[in-house]
Amino acid sequence: MPVDAATAGFPTHRPRRLRTTPAMRELVAETRVDVADLIAPLFVREAIDEPIEIRSLPDVYQDTLDSLRRRVARLAELGVKSVMLFGIPAEKDAIGSGAFDPDGIVQVALRQLRADLGDDLVLMADLCVDEYTDHGHCGIVRDGSVDNDATLEVYAKAAVAQADAGAHVVAPSGMMDGQVAAIRSALDQHGHPDVPILAYSAKYASGLYGPFRDAVDVEIAGGGDRKGYQQDPRNAREALVEVLADLEQGADMVMVKPALAYLDIIHEVRRHVDVPLAAYHVSGEYSMIKAAAANGWIDHDVVALEHLTSIKRAGADLVLTYLTGWFAERAAGKATS
Ligand code: PBG
Repeated sequence: MPVDAATAGFPTHRPRRLRTTPAMRELVAETRVDVADLIAPLFVREAIDEPIEIRSLPDVYQDTLDSLRRRVARLAELGVKSVMLFGIPAEKDAIGSGAFDPDGIVQVALRQLRADLGDDLVLMADLCVDEYTDHGHCGIVRDGSVDNDATLEVYAKAAVAQADAGAHVVAPSGMMDGQVAAIRSALDQHGHPDVPILAYSAKYASGLYGPFRDAVDVEIAGGGDRKGYQQDPRNAREALVEVLADLEQGADMVMVKPALAYLDIIHEVRRHVDVPLAAYHVSGEYSMIKAAAANGWIDHDVVALEHLTSIKRAGADLVLTYLTGWFAERAAGKATS
């Protein structure tokens, strides 16, 4: 057979055919980010009169109770389905009483938001004590280290206080061993068998939480760190040990944190579990986009969307992200134009 000179050496596969037009690309896209996939982390601070923009988290605020209500109402209007609340108390103490006091700032905010919005939006509460302790650790400190089991008692009380105040979901983030079991049993015993737990299961001791410390005014006493309870970034298999332990203890959803620097972990957890999987696109991941974009080094919108898309592509169902408001406003603008 003579060789057909016209076609010899031409590619048999031409993936570019499916990249020719925006409509074609949209049609074959494997991953989509929807506003309903996103959870907005929000901060409410006791005893302030005006919202305060967080220096290292542009466009993110420490809200007053009123500005929080307005912000959440707007997010709900834009189709956001969930928010995660963090509190900054006026007074901190050794055991983080503000985390379980029925009049603690997050409990007050939850009651107001639940009254405003009912079940229109899923109210989540971050469950930890670091925002509320004067030493900045996520638990009760005894003899210079965080006492796991003494901390569980405080978490149990905080879970009940949050659920009593109207939280639809509690989200323990302190990385104490046995925290999910302790919280589940407290919720069950206090009339909240239907309140689910979103466990921050695989949470790494990351430098990417830097701006969050500004957001909640936390400094760890004596320049300490959280390496005694959060995971070592060098370990991947350990993430599965943590996730499976949390599921066994009754977690309804699990989370990997941070997100973009840990896409391998998200992917691995997705392969092993079928419960909803969340990933936290943390403060440092957000601030890096903002800082580079402010310098004109990257295009904010392109990179922001790329981050969210990549986290979903890796296997996350839900993304807890400071980009939620931006994404929702942008999606609403597109829908109406
Ligand atoms: C602990 C908590 C932290 C974050 C969320 N929950 C801080 C920490 O573990 O040091 C960080 C989130 C972020 O950086 O956006 N309550």
